[in-house]
Amino acid sequence: STKPVRIAVTGAAGQVSYALLYRIASGEMLGKDQPVILQLLELPNEKAQAALKGVMMELEDCAFPLLYGMEAHSDPAVAFKDTEYALLVGSRPRGPGMERTELLAANAQIFTAQGKALDAVASRNVKVLVVGNPANTNAWIAMQSAPSLPRENFTAMLRLDHNRALSQLAARMGKPVSLIKCLAVWGNHSSTMYPDYRFASMEGESVKDIINDDAWYKDVFLPTVAKRGAAIIEARGQSSAGSAATAVIDHMRDWVMGTQGRWVTMGVPSNGEYDIPKNVVFGYPVTCSGGKYTIVEGLKFDDEFSQDRIERTLAELISEQDAVKHLL
Ligand code: NAI
Repeated sequence: STKPVRIAVTGAAGQVSYALLYRIASGEMLGKDQPVILQLLELPNEKAQAALKGVMMELEDCAFPLLYGMEAHSDPAVAFKDTEYALLVGSRPRGPGMERTELLAANAQIFTAQGKALDAVASRNVKVLVVGNPANTNAWIAMQSAPSLPRENFTAMLRLDHNRALSQLAARMGKPVSLIKCLAVWGNHSSTMYPDYRFASMEGESVKDIINDDAWYKDVFLPTVAKRGAAIIEARGQSSAGSAATAVIDHMRDWVMGTQGRWVTMGVPSNGEYDIPKNVVFGYPVTCSGGKYTIVEGLKFDDEFSQDRIERTLAELISEQDAVKHLL
């Protein structure tokens, strides 16, 4: 269609957005035929708004044919007006000496307000992706604060974990990433997530059997994926931005355009799949088609290791919910 769609991006002057906005405007997310209008939200302070203006000047200087319009906002109730896609990237980072509960509370406030704003003014079909951490719990808060919108339209980003896991497996096998199918990452976007290769295959063979090295899987692979964010900070002095933006593009493009049967990982509200309590935003393997995702069901959890990993990541999500429940 040639009618432009409205895409809201929060934290628009931050570093993930700096790697993301140009790619959205060039058509990488929604396709080369889909014009876009960017509705950019930043904190109201002068510094953030000035930085946002600078980003918009650069976007203008790209002369993107698909970029039909841009708006700078400081109020979510205006920024989210009629938006069909909401990429919630901005959140409150952990400050020096800040307790986990303080961090959760600060974000609860942000995502309650943003959920309410989406509920009030966004398109009734808005697809929401929460990137800002703690991403799963922030998505849950926004969803709870937007009762008139479809629950299933609130998602959290686990695609970066999925992509990291894919690359590590491909490197270990010396094969291209594109040959690996049916990888899953379960749970929270945090170090408790469970990158699970039990169902993964490559050219019809089990990835687990090809690698055939349980010690590598448990002692090298899992910690490498879990600590990858910290390793990037250590190396670069800043947190992942280019890879995070790529994961945003992948998550949204697959959700909208479909995966043709391929599994990808999305954080989505549970309907009880795999005994995860309803509404917990949990990383699941999904397939996408016709603008909808479907959780891959029927996978067996018959080993203690996997059961334990699922329980651990679920316990963390429940404790995050418990810490903010009273604020909703
Ligand atoms: P950043 O600090 O460079 O940018 C964040 C921006 O958000 C800042 O410009 C800030 O002013 C803005 N902001 C803060 N609160 C806001 C609010 N209430 N409304 C609108 N804007 C607001 O951070 P960066 O590197 O861009 O990361 C953004 C978030 O994404 C962080 O929470 C980070 O932890 C998370 N992240 C999540 C990943 C995932 O895989 N789920 C991967 C990478 C980053």
